[in-house]
Amino acid sequence: MNTREKTEAYVCQTYVRQGKAFVSGKGMFLTDEDGKVYTDFLAGIAVCSLGHCHPEVTAAIREQAGRLVHVSNLFYTQPQADLAKALVEKSFADRVFFANSGAEANEAAIKLARRYFQQNGDKKRFRIITMAQSFHGRTMATLTATGQDKIKQGFYPLLEGFSHVPFNDLAALEKELDDTVCAVMMEPVQGEGGVIPADPDYLAGVRALCDRTGTLLIFDEIQTGMGRCGTLFAHEVCGVTPDIMTLAKALGNGVPIGAMLATQAAAKGFAPGSHGSTFGGTPLATAAGCKTLEIISDPVFLARVREKGRYFKKQLNALKEKYPRIHQVRGAGLLLGMEIDKDASLFVENCFKKGFIINAIQDKVLRFAPPLIVETADIDRLVAVLDSLFERGDLA
Ligand SMILES: Cc1ncc(COP(=O)(O)O)c(C=O)c1O
Repeated sequence: MNTREKTEAYVCQTYVRQGKAFVSGKGMFLTDEDGKVYTDFLAGIAVCSLGHCHPEVTAAIREQAGRLVHVSNLFYTQPQADLAKALVEKSFADRVFFANSGAEANEAAIKLARRYFQQNGDKKRFRIITMAQSFHGRTMATLTATGQDKIKQGFYPLLEGFSHVPFNDLAALEKELDDTVCAVMMEPVQGEGGVIPADPDYLAGVRALCDRTGTLLIFDEIQTGMGRCGTLFAHEVCGVTPDIMTLAKALGNGVPIGAMLATQAAAKGFAPGSHGSTFGGTPLATAAGCKTLEIISDPVFLARVREKGRYFKKQLNALKEKYPRIHQVRGAGLLLGMEIDKDASLFVENCFKKGFIINAIQDKVLRFAPPLIVETADIDRLVAVLDSLFERGDLA
């Protein structure tokens, strides 16, 4: 049995997988078991933002793996303390809770928001409002929070106390906000929902509504954070900060890690024993996180992400001018989406055949989330392939 056959035979069938097994990666490139090389414009779904096997991150992982991998959160470890300090120093937050994935980071945020009010005796304030088309994860609480029905099929009954409002619609949110709501939770740019950015004034408007009603504001930056959108955290461009923010994906450049960051006031909702995770913030994961954060948070690195994102968007918009099938190019930094008339997955398959990895979401959107180290020459090569595919009539 080869890897593909074994995987199909023994791994739960929750994913439709493409191609042959990958055996190695370096920077922008992945190599499969036949030696075919692919240029990666997905980065493990916005995870390997420094590229595959970044030498400094790999060295940090190797060094830590030889020193100490795990001791549990009953004890102190230096990499965890260092990463928490660095995250706090580079954000609005005062405290960090470490988890192992995005969904777990969001679970922590949801639990913190509820407990924040309940421990003050405000037991009726437990509702959480999220956005239509949002994506927050696959655990029971986070799939309930997610604003997409297809994610929920087969998992009823869901949790109590979640409702969704249309994204970018401040009036709809205002109508829904009452004294039973403990938190509003949202992505600054909806990733899985179709790469849909919040309107520039919307985030500030949401912040103002939350302030007026005493509601906690949670930004899910699991996909948008860690430089993906051109600033360390995507919300930085709107000039307001949340009470709670979640991170995962690129935080360990591929080593599983999630984090929930909170202000001192919000973090008071947790006390010893109220939440936990065996693996959350292991020395190994947080050592990878420290190195990744150090590199990505360099202002020169982030300026280059913005520059390359602008260039990429311009090239994609040039294709839009040429092909009426392309309806819109949108996104921020190096999280870009191209909405086409239909059948986005056909483009994904054909790009793959030509050695480029991209991704389709919501049937009609091509998503591009390359490693942030992508160069304009890589972008030009992908755009040339897309151009040739749009020119072909048979993909319509
Ligand atoms: C915005 C957002 N939140 C949460 C998640 C869930 O993260 P994970 O798959 O690590 O649980 C994702 C994953 O795509 C995401 O994009």
